[in-house]
Amino acid sequence: MKVRYYSFFASLNRPAVALLLAGLAASCNQAGKTETTTTATTPAATASNKADWWKETVVYQLYPRSFQDSNGDGVGDLKGITSRLDYLKSLGVGTVWLNPIYASPNDDNGYDISDYRAIMPEFGTMQDFDALLQGMHGRGLKLVMDLVVNHSSDEHAWFKSARASRTSPYRDFYYWWPAEKGTPPARYSTFDVKHDAWQYDAPTKSYYLHYFSKKQPDLNWNNPKLRQEVYKIMRFWLDKGIDGFRMDAFQFVAKDPSFPPIPNVTESNFANSYNHGPRLHDYLQEMNREVLSHYNVMTVAEGAGRNVTEAMLFVDPARKELNMTYHFEGVGVGNNADTYQLTDLKRVFTKWDSAFAQKGWQAIDLGNHDQPRMVSKFGDDRPAFRAPSAKLLNTFLLTMRGTPYCYNGDELGMTNSKFNGIADYRDVAARNAYTLLKQQKGDEKAFFHTLARFSRDNSRTPFQWDDSAQAGFTTGTPWLNVNPNYVTLNRAAEEKDSSSVLHHFRRAIAVRKQHKVLVYGQYQLLDAANPNIYAYTRTLNGEQVLVVLNFSSAPRTWALPAGLTPTGQPWLNNYPTAPTGPALALQPWQAVVYRLR
Ligand code: BGC
Ligand code: CA
Repeated sequence: MKVRYYSFFASLNRPAVALLLAGLAASCNQAGKTETTTTATTPAATASNKADWWKETVVYQLYPRSFQDSNGDGVGDLKGITSRLDYLKSLGVGTVWLNPIYASPNDDNGYDISDYRAIMPEFGTMQDFDALLQGMHGRGLKLVMDLVVNHSSDEHAWFKSARASRTSPYRDFYYWWPAEKGTPPARYSTFDVKHDAWQYDAPTKSYYLHYFSKKQPDLNWNNPKLRQEVYKIMRFWLDKGIDGFRMDAFQFVAKDPSFPPIPNVTESNFANSYNHGPRLHDYLQEMNREVLSHYNVMTVAEGAGRNVTEAMLFVDPARKELNMTYHFEGVGVGNNADTYQLTDLKRVFTKWDSAFAQKGWQAIDLGNHDQPRMVSKFGDDRPAFRAPSAKLLNTFLLTMRGTPYCYNGDELGMTNSKFNGIADYRDVAARNAYTLLKQQKGDEKAFFHTLARFSRDNSRTPFQWDDSAQAGFTTGTPWLNVNPNYVTLNRAAEEKDSSSVLHHFRRAIAVRKQHKVLVYGQYQLLDAANPNIYAYTRTLNGEQVLVVLNFSSAPRTWALPAGLTPTGQPWLNNYPTAPTGPALALQPWQAVVYRLR
């Protein structure tokens, strides 16, 4: 029997190994093949280059559990974040997206919420939150919160009431299948040990639906009362002054309550099967009308749409839904570790750029809390190449069209970590997958090999502040082990070294802020077939820049296309000297941004 490791839409049975969000990425890839890639022609003012603060900002994704512990319990907290606000400000980022900080039993690190209006006690109090928000706003930083409403925790008061009786006023806040109707139609769950999305619940002799773990029952968006409750929660936080929401797993909220059979739902296609259910866009338009349109905030949907056409439906300004979306196809490319090709990455990013060239807007990212570290996946984390490749990846993020999302620690070039067996992992996806593996007597060696590369815990290790014990993250025992490389790879060391990844990150942000061409300029891919060099121009109002990225650990030469002549000093360069034409001699992972005109 084949044994599978699921780390959120992931599978081991594919030769390409398990990956986070792989199912979704793979299905996007398939959809992508039939889509045409057109080259954008940008007229003077398209809806895409209409100025908005959320297009010009750089988003810093902050994982609160791992950022800074203030009281020695080994868990990062709000006071810890507040104590580091000057650092965040010093980066030049404009917006901080916080992963969930609401009350939660933490089956899935806060993505299982038991009270949407309360702060998780481990993270602090509402006073701590208010102080954090004030501290951010005082420094000109905006705050975006995660909104997790595809599901709640099974410990939420709604669910406790709903499961107690079939006549509970909250019964219809969730999906139930009465046992007298027989076994419910198969649905796949990504975190469930058996991947069964229906959990039998004895008190009311019924099954409830959970696309994620059994402690994450799905909320019933067909019920207008539930929707109104969600809108009230949104207003509660918006009235406190927060600046937007990142909408978790929102593409899954719409479901047909009759549960028609979905044949052969597996780990690799479940996202596609669940995506875009009936009335999804009615819900978003209602949410916009009732809540979002009353505030000047940003909204970003996770993984919206199975392809660019569907993704556009979320963010076409005329439809009045959300501001931007981030796709999984880019991170998905690198998850095919054995077959990863730079040309695939170029194709994917170029396709998505073209799709949003005239209207709509997208996020640009290469990593997050569900992915391994970007430098370990798309760069080269060996000592000789870690710093240049991390700088190259940050250059990429900050010179593409779209709002850049930088995951905390990537500004230092933090890498995948080292885990010695299942006890070192904390992620529900990894642990439940291991339980299944044991039950099925699967291949442990292959399992751990995959987990080491792709586990979500790789990017969740504590932030590396300095070389003191536990990297300065905590005075206690961290909830997840610190990456042993903190001794040399840490913020304090990088602060002192003007050629560090950190300083390069700051420079790149400063350049983006200074030059609107990097925000709004038309993107044009060059030399699409080159397997090592990713080169493109950005053009706006007569100004043009050229970005040349050597995505490889070897020196490469790249001939400047006729007619493209750099002028003056490069805006950005991750080596002390910049190559000059007509053939650019690039160092391993060299990244240079030239002004052309
Ligand atoms: C989040 C994951 C989470 C899942 C369930 C995802 O979109 O990013 O971290 O496990 O939703 O809430
Ligand atoms: Ca703490």
